[in-house]
Amino acid sequence: MSFDRRVAVVTGGARNIGLATVKAFLARDARVVLVDRDDETVDSAVSSLGVAGDRLIGVSADVSSEESVKALMDRVGAAFGSVSYVVNNAGICTLNLAVDLSVEEWDRVLAVNLRGPWLCVKHALPLMKDGGAVVNIASQAAQRAQRFTAHYSASKMGIIGLTRALAVELAPKIRVNAVSPGTVYTNMIEHEINWRISKGFDSDGEAVKKDWLDRIPMKRFQSADAIAKAILFLCSDDASETTGETLNVSGGAVMV
Ligand SMILES: NC(=O)c1ccc[n+]([C@@H]2O[C@H](COP(=O)([O-])OP(=O)(O)OC[C@H]3O[C@@H](n4cnc5c(N)ncnc54)[C@H](O)[C@@H]3O)[C@@H](O)[C@H]2O)c1
Repeated sequence: MSFDRRVAVVTGGARNIGLATVKAFLARDARVVLVDRDDETVDSAVSSLGVAGDRLIGVSADVSSEESVKALMDRVGAAFGSVSYVVNNAGICTLNLAVDLSVEEWDRVLAVNLRGPWLCVKHALPLMKDGGAVVNIASQAAQRAQRFTAHYSASKMGIIGLTRALAVELAPKIRVNAVSPGTVYTNMIEHEINWRISKGFDSDGEAVKKDWLDRIPMKRFQSADAIAKAILFLCSDDASETTGETLNVSGGAVMV
């Protein structure tokens, strides 16, 4: 699979799933725009990759802000002239019982996770005149009932709806799909375990981990690389007849 110097914009590209996706695109000859929320994060991720500026640029942007996303796409247009792939990966999550969420917390998570992907597609579109593909990142939290993330789960279910709506509106030139990861064991997950213990919902981190693993048929967490491979597949011509779909990469967790 080669992306033949076509341009991929990856939001939240500085670490974990986003960074794995940036690396996978670079390994397959794409040109990449690594987007994250501040200059320092972007600069250190870009310099860690050691790739020439004609193949990789970093841009800091807040995906929840229309002004910021518009400025991002202006930069991308000036640097590369066109976009073929948009990967809406930037996302945040806070933890709380639904009744304890503040309006600010609810709005911030929805703004980053749901408004952000819509804004990125809206403003990338003028650069996608030759067609292409969008991949939005959902989550198993959209499809499985889980505690403490009502706002996050709602935002990710929204992503599945947004994916379908965009797929219909942008066909046939642009395909729009989602990847729905299971559990990628990042610092976000460590933070959740520590939070559950600190709030008295659980007492033993190893037991929480074991409980999560027991509910995954494949009996393992997913890697960021595995998610990146699914994203690249949906961008590639191998998925040329697939649009509006959500590909679960959860070791089977979503089906049980
Ligand atoms: N880790 C998991 O188990 C898991 C599971 C299901 C879904 N996901 C989803 O996958 C995506 C990536 O997850 P991750 O674990 O790699 O997350 P992460 O927190 O490690 O990385 C997310 C990146 O997005 C950036 N970001 C946050 N807000 C931003 C904003 N407003 N504008 C621009 N960039 C912003 C962060 O700085 C960070 O670099 C997210 O959408 C997440 O919801 C993750």
